[in-house]
Amino acid sequence: MAEKTKILFIGGTGYIGKFIVEASLKAGHPTFLLVRESSVSDPAKGKVIENFKNSGATLLYGDLYDHESLVKAIKQVDVVISTVGHGQLGDQGKIIDAIKEAGNVKRYFPSEFGNDIDRTSAVDPAKSAFETKAQFRRAIEAAGIPYTYVSSNCFAGYFLPNLAQIGATAPPRDKVTILGDGNAKAVFNKEEDIAAYTIKAVDDPRTLNKIVYIRPSNNTISFNDLVSLWEKKIGKSLEKTYLPEEQLLKNIQEAPFPLNIALAINHCCFVTGEQTKFEIDPSVGVEASALYPDVKYTTVDELLNQFV
Ligand SMILES: NC(=O)c1ccc[n+]([C@@H]2O[C@H](COP(=O)([O-])OP(=O)(O)OC[C@H]3O[C@@H](n4cnc5c(N)ncnc54)[C@H](OP(=O)(O)O)[C@@H]3O)[C@@H](O)[C@H]2O)c1
Repeated sequence: MAEKTKILFIGGTGYIGKFIVEASLKAGHPTFLLVRESSVSDPAKGKVIENFKNSGATLLYGDLYDHESLVKAIKQVDVVISTVGHGQLGDQGKIIDAIKEAGNVKRYFPSEFGNDIDRTSAVDPAKSAFETKAQFRRAIEAAGIPYTYVSSNCFAGYFLPNLAQIGATAPPRDKVTILGDGNAKAVFNKEEDIAAYTIKAVDDPRTLNKIVYIRPSNNTISFNDLVSLWEKKIGKSLEKTYLPEEQLLKNIQEAPFPLNIALAINHCCFVTGEQTKFEIDPSVGVEASALYPDVKYTTVDELLNQFV
């Protein structure tokens, strides 16, 4: 039997990273985690790392800011998946430099896992974050590094537990604020499904040098329809306030960090519909649920049941 592809995770202890590491282990890939010594000794993070180790992951000590450690780790694997967070996005050039030096990587997945940033217009501060990701796409392509960009759209766990009502800890039962006219469609995907699709893409020649869009039709929904679905589930009509776009743009300008970034992301996802305003161009991208019909993804309808 052919040996399974070896995968290195940089950021495997992060929010989305944990799900993808689990999927990698579940699929039987030799799974390597770049971990910082400070994280291993941290009580909470150390526990996560220990669990991964007990499930068969190999720990490699290193740091994004320690070039030698990156090169050494990368040389041991075939594929590198970066799931570093917002604070490290601007330093992903360090991974590109290490991949170039190591010279053995068959595929690199940079930390994307959101909108297709080449086809998203946004206002700041989301705009700058997207531009940073785009800049690294260009650097990967210029270096000739084989890549896959995963455009996973909205993480369900970020947006559905409070129906995108920033600051709320539960979905609304009386009143809901709808951004813009509520007709733009966004896409919500369960983290385990994003992870399953990402790992499927690792060895797939159809996803080489392509964007993998996770855009299943059942999870592509306008905010108005999302609210209606929720109202049906709780058997009650909510009082709706429509926040005009001009007011939202003003709120973004006045809000402190990180509220401003959350609002700017909501603006581009739920008001201007950046996730769904374009058709997938088959010369640059593929859609995950069409490519992998065997993945039984969880629908938005099913996801909402847990909050009733
Ligand atoms: N689509 C969506 O709804 C959505 C939502 C949120 C984020 N995202 C995107 O998902 C991607 C991952 O974000 P996230 O929120 O999951 O990340 P996160 O939770 O902030 O995790 C960051 C990871 O990077 C690691 N890290 C930090 N500094 C490091 C260093 N110096 N060396 C090595 N590793 C280091 C952390 O390790 P430790 O655990 O050791 O600190 C952690 O594993 C980003 O591209 C983000 O834009 C998308």
